[in-house]
Amino acid sequence: MRKPIIAGNWKMNKTHGEAVSFIDEIKGNIPSSEEEVETVVCAPALFLKEMKDKAAGSDVKIGAQTMHFEESGAFTGEISPAALKDLGITHSIIGHSERREMFNETDESVNQKLHAAFQYGITPIMCCGESLEQRENNQTEQIVRDQVEKGFAGISAEKAPDVVVAYEPIWAIGTGKSSTAEDANETCGTVRKVLAELYDENTAEAVRIQYGGSVKPENIDGYMEKEHIDGALVGGASLKPDAFLQLVEAGRNE
Ligand code: 13P
Repeated sequence: MRKPIIAGNWKMNKTHGEAVSFIDEIKGNIPSSEEEVETVVCAPALFLKEMKDKAAGSDVKIGAQTMHFEESGAFTGEISPAALKDLGITHSIIGHSERREMFNETDESVNQKLHAAFQYGITPIMCCGESLEQRENNQTEQIVRDQVEKGFAGISAEKAPDVVVAYEPIWAIGTGKSSTAEDANETCGTVRKVLAELYDENTAEAVRIQYGGSVKPENIDGYMEKEHIDGALVGGASLKPDAFLQLVEAGRNE
C-alpha cells in the first residue's frame, strides 16, 4: 500500500513572514504522516530554516525546490544538498520543468541530483512531463519514458522506491487546463511500466507517483481515485492555507 503524498511547490512566491505564518496556520491540522498521508511544503530556500523550526512537533515536512549535486564549491547562487541535510530538510523537487526550461536542467543533471539526494538522505521528488507540442505529436510516452530511464540511471532497486515521481504535463502547469484524470493516470501508468522494466514489478509498485498541473481542491479527488496516482504536486493552490489543507485532506481520504 503506497502512502499518498501531497506536496506544495510555492515556486518564487511569499515573503519570509508569509511563509512562517502559513506553517503556523496549517500545522495544527495536518494528519499523522505515520499512517495517513505525507505532507510536504517545498518553499524558497531563504525560508526553509524558519519554516522547519515552525513546523517542529507537527507532521509537516519542509522541502526545497531544487538543489545542486555537489556538496560545496564554486557554484554561485546554488543550494548545497549537505546544507539542506544540515537544516533537517527532508525533500527536494528535482528537475521541475521550469528548471529544465529556464535553468538548463537536463536529464543528466537530474540523475546526478538523484544520486546526491540519496547521499544526503533527502527524498527526491523527480519531475517529468511533456510539452503541448510533444503531446500533440503523440510523443508523451516516449518523452516520459526517456526522462524516467535517464533520471533513474544507476539508482539501485533498493533505493528506487524512495524516489517520488511527479508527472507534470507542462501544458497543464499554471494554466488552469488540468489533464483529465484518465490521461494523467495513463501516463503515470507509463511511468510505472518503465520502472517495472528497469527494476521489477514489486519495485515499480512501491514507487509513489504524483500528478501535478492545475490541481486544486475541486479536482483533486478525481486524480486520487486513480490506480497509478498516489498524490499531487501543487503550485498555485498550495499557496493558501485553507486550500492546501483541503488538498491534504483529499490525500488522506484516498
Ligand atoms: P500549478 O498547480 O500552479 O499548475 O503548478 C504545478 C506545478 O508546477 C507544481 O510543481
